Amino acid sequence: MTQPARLHSDRNLALELVRVTEAGALAAARWIGRGNKDEADGAAVEAMRRAFDSVDISGTVVIGEGEMDEAPMLYIGERLGAGGPEMDIAVDPLEGTSTAASGAPNALAVVALAPKGGFLHAPDVYMEKIAVGPGLPQGVVSLTLPVGQNLARLAAAKGCAVGDLMVCMLERERHAPLIAACRDAGARITLIGSGDVAGVIAVAQPASGIDLFIGSGGAPEGVLAAAALRCLGGQMQGRLLFEDDAQIARAHTMGITDPARIYELEDMARGPVLFAATGVTSGDWLKGVHRAGGHLVTHSVVTRSASGTVRYIEALHARR
Ligand code: FBP
Repeated sequence: MTQPARLHSDRNLALELVRVTEAGALAAARWIGRGNKDEADGAAVEAMRRAFDSVDISGTVVIGEGEMDEAPMLYIGERLGAGGPEMDIAVDPLEGTSTAASGAPNALAVVALAPKGGFLHAPDVYMEKIAVGPGLPQGVVSLTLPVGQNLARLAAAKGCAVGDLMVCMLERERHAPLIAACRDAGARITLIGSGDVAGVIAVAQPASGIDLFIGSGGAPEGVLAAAALRCLGGQMQGRLLFEDDAQIARAHTMGITDPARIYELEDMARGPVLFAATGVTSGDWLKGVHRAGGHLVTHSVVTRSASGTVRYIEALHARR
């Protein structure tokens, strides 16, 4: 059967995207456990930037390494790709820089694509996040509700007790009240050291045992997690957390006119979205880069919202 051209090009792009995250992960892997997060990040940035040269898109970075004057590569507004459909790029070459530097689990190289205008132009502030997996009534949890109520509603929807639920959040001082509220409600908690893109994604994977992700983390990471959930299924809300008027004014220049707005999944990642990630250090979801004989092995995932297919790709790279 003849497929529309757009679907074909998306399919091809999905595989090209994996090459980009593989390149980032392979470069960052040389720095695992060396205690130098900047070098690890820089290596991933450079490798992913180079890999984009052969991706058939006319891309613009909207979530990247920072403003043009802050980042030499993968800066917001940078044009990438070998030419092709106009697409927006959200990229985190090393999600979990400290994690990789200390050899801890769950560091990833991550990238997502959306049609032009598809991603929320999130400033580099914190975002309050809440996410659940697929197959639940729309709106079962909400940032507008107290956590105890969210847990009760989620337990009812899942047909279990609140005590059966596992909540995931970043282990941070700022989350002390949230942790206390979850425990008071009777839920169990998995605290993660860093990497809340993987934390959010865990809600869409039954094997993770995570029922709810909650708490604040980076807003750019929120957009990447939203792109992943668009493909994997699930619900997510995000609300930007501004520390002062200067941050609000800066966000305004990026098109954010209502600082208190709650963003739904589709407000953060619209249209047909592609998402790819490669493990740098091993986590519950993806294995990290490792040696096998004469090869370096990478473990990646690539998924498209249009089909919902989730492909895992194990690649053996010749060591040169
Ligand atoms: P980096 O890759 O920039 O180190 O971010 C790791 C991370 O854990 C993100 O996953 C998360 O969104 C953010 O940091 C949380 O920020 P903070 O460490 O300030 O709480």
